[in-house]
Amino acid sequence: MTGPVVWKKVESLVPGEISMETVRLSDDQPPIVRIGQSLTEDMVETLKEKGVRYLWVQISSVKPPVVKPEKIEQLKEEIKDIFGDAAEKLRVDRREIANLSHEIVNDIVKNYSDKLSLILLIQQNDEEYTYVHEVHAGMISTLIGLESGLKINQLSRLSFAAIIHDIGKILVPKDILYAPRRLNEKEFELVKKHVEYGSRICENSDIRDPEIISGVRDHHEKLDGTGYLKGSKKGEISLEARIIAIADVYDALISNRSYKSSWSPYRAISEIIKMASFGKLDRELVQAFVSVVGLYPVGTTVLLNSGEKAIVVGNTRGRATQPILRLDNGENIDLAEEKGLTIVQVLD
Ligand SMILES: [Fe+2]
Repeated sequence: MTGPVVWKKVESLVPGEISMETVRLSDDQPPIVRIGQSLTEDMVETLKEKGVRYLWVQISSVKPPVVKPEKIEQLKEEIKDIFGDAAEKLRVDRREIANLSHEIVNDIVKNYSDKLSLILLIQQNDEEYTYVHEVHAGMISTLIGLESGLKINQLSRLSFAAIIHDIGKILVPKDILYAPRRLNEKEFELVKKHVEYGSRICENSDIRDPEIISGVRDHHEKLDGTGYLKGSKKGEISLEARIIAIADVYDALISNRSYKSSWSPYRAISEIIKMASFGKLDRELVQAFVSVVGLYPVGTTVLLNSGEKAIVVGNTRGRATQPILRLDNGENIDLAEEKGLTIVQVLD
């Protein structure tokens, strides 16, 4: 299975389309649909009944995603094992993480071109989210790093930090971590500690690179000093932590959690831009992110000045307002090459 995947509203799914994610409502139930399965009418009905709103599905070819969804699933399972081991031993295997981080960096460097497609998987279960979130953070951070001109060895450390940035959560009680409600102040203080636990697990594992340690420890710091744990400000937060912070917020926004439903990629990128303009996230790094995923990320449904409706299936680097679209009639058009056609509205 290669390429072109879009994030579709469940109500507009068509039987026969290939699901690019596994949807499982809880661990003790079989999945409603598995990655790679062709959708049946029954599956679509069940998704609707269970309140699932969006699904990544494959449509015909435009551009392969920077990391394929089935690869993300595979990496997620590996991260899950790493977290499981770490919960017992309070340490991680440095080489194992380095291997995963190389896989992400290699895929992204290989697929990094003028035309890109970033596909992220939506999880229905909070614990599964924790693991896929690490993979997504690795992917988004690597993309931002690459767009910002980082070298391969810097990208490797960045991606390394990103895929274990929440490893400290293994020491936060699960009933608090996955509570399907807003946390009280005391509980939130406990959750905040995951950044400190994370850097300790790194030290326990003989991971000494300051870029990795700071990426894990400081990914919740905000440039204006309103973040945690230390409340550090701009000059005090490493490049790695500033990049992971963007990846972390974006992926959290588009994700389904028990206490919030997923935001559309368009709404999420708008929020990221707002946070940069309020001085919370690094403006230049957000600019690099927008340069890669555009203002209308893959999966956004838009209305054109021609009156036609279309879905974003790819982006052209540096052309934030001119994505590659797929029209309702199945035709693909690249707004970066099409004169006169513009997006007038987002329909998500
Ligand atoms: Fe975190």
